[in-house]
Formats: sequence, C-alpha cells, structure tokens
Amino acid sequence: MTALLSLDQVQSFYGAAHILHGLGLQVHAGERVALIGRNGVGKTTVVNTILGLAQMRAGSLHFGGVPIARPRPYIAAQHGIVVVPQGRRIVANLTVEENLLLGAATGRKGPWTVPEIYKLFPILQERAHTPGTALSGGQQQMLAVGRALMANPGLILLDEPTEGLAPVIVDQLADIFNRVADQGTALLLIEQNLSLVVRVAHRYLAMAKGSVVAQGQVVNSPQGLQDIEEHVMV
Ligand SMILES: Nc1ncnc2c1ncn2[C@@H]1O[C@H](COP(=O)(O)OP(=O)(O)O)[C@@H](O)[C@H]1O
Ligand SMILES: [Mg+2]
Repeated sequence: MTALLSLDQVQSFYGAAHILHGLGLQVHAGERVALIGRNGVGKTTVVNTILGLAQMRAGSLHFGGVPIARPRPYIAAQHGIVVVPQGRRIVANLTVEENLLLGAATGRKGPWTVPEIYKLFPILQERAHTPGTALSGGQQQMLAVGRALMANPGLILLDEPTEGLAPVIVDQLADIFNRVADQGTALLLIEQNLSLVVRVAHRYLAMAKGSVVAQGQVVNSPQGLQDIEEHVMV
C-alpha cells in the first residue's frame, strides 16, 4: 500500500543549521503513529520540512506516492495532509466559526463539516461567534483540531497538542484523537506526554539528533509506557 506520507534519507536545514540527518518515516492510511524524542531533536523540523518551512537539501518526500520537490502548506493540504502546529496559531481577528471555515479552503470533500465539528466539540458551537483568541488554551486547541479536520484530511500531524494544558483537557483531547482516528483519519502525534501516547498511538518512532533511532509497537499498559519512556527524558 502506498504511504500517505513518506520521508526517506531526508537532510533538512535552517540556513546553515543542519537539523535532520537522514530522517526516514512513513505513515499509511488509518495509522496512529507517535513521534517522540527529547526537546530539540528535530520533531517540529520534520513538520516544517513537510510544509517547506525547513529546507530539504537531500533525500525524498512523497505525499500519497507523489514525489514533492518543493513542499508548501497548500500542497500538503491538497494531498490531504494537514498540520495542527505547535502553539496552535488561532487567527486573532476571526471568530471561532470563521477560523473553522479557513480549514475548508482546499475544498476536499469528506465527512467533516461545521455541524460535525460542533458535535465533536460542543463548546465551539457555544462560542461560535466569539473571537478565536478569546478562548481558553484548551478550547483553542480544540479549535485548531477542528480547523484541521475541516480540510477532510487523510492524515493530521499534531505537534505537541497538549503542551501546557490541564490534565482534564488532555483527557478530553485523547478521547477526541481516538474518535477522529476511529473514523479513519491517520494521526502523526508528536507528543512529550507519554501517557497520552500510549492511549492514542499504535506505533512509535523515536528521534535523536535529527533521525529516527528506534521504533516499535505501542502497548497501552504501565510496561508499554516504561518501554518508550527512555526515549523522552527531557
Ligand atoms: N528557525 C530555526 N533556525 C535555526 N535553528 C532552528 C530553527 N528552529 C529550530 N531550530 C533548531 O533546530 C533544532 C531542532 O528543533 P525542533 O525541530 O524545534 O525540535 P523539537 O520539535 O524536537 O523540540 C534545535 O536545535 C533548534 O534550536
Ligand atoms: Mg517542537
């Protein structure tokens, strides 16, 4: 089966700074993959490479089997790959509903519509006409996830979606991510909170110094948690 997303032997840079060193990863339709590793190993740079925000100078990138020489955010979106960026980036001057509609810009057809997003996140319907930035941190994260779903993606990349959120919100998001994945959307979950990783992901890739150094199955148990902990001691 063709991977939705494939990076092979990727070398990525910010200017002269060489960050990814031969990185390889693949995500197939419907998969739930966690990308873990200490701060600064290059996890966000993987996302930035896919969006063209970090410069790929060697190696290859494929979206749905199509080679992508000059990645851009809209090219990823056209191939059904969307990003919930680290730090969320809600547009300040737009309401909750306007933020959601931004996500539909690619016009890809699929199950996700504004009413479906409101079923998933009733709080967003209650706050539909307030500015997106007036929401709490947890609600803004829900909005960022809802906006990503509006593109009807085959794959969502979530870059540290629970950073700085209260445990009760993290639990709600874990439930949401599982519901989204149950509907068939593949997830690449970049996450330091490993108790969330074991509840959501089925497979993990561990990074160190700009490449993948370990991978395996994720088991949702105390032992499974311990098995991946060594990869993310900050
Ligand atoms: N815009 C940038 N310019 C130069 N170096 C950067 C830039 N962004 C990140 N870096 C560096 O790249 C390395 C990897 O960063 P990042 O991908 O954000 O790691 P992670 O997401 O795993 O914490 C770090 O050493 C960081 O300082
Ligand atoms: Mg990061």
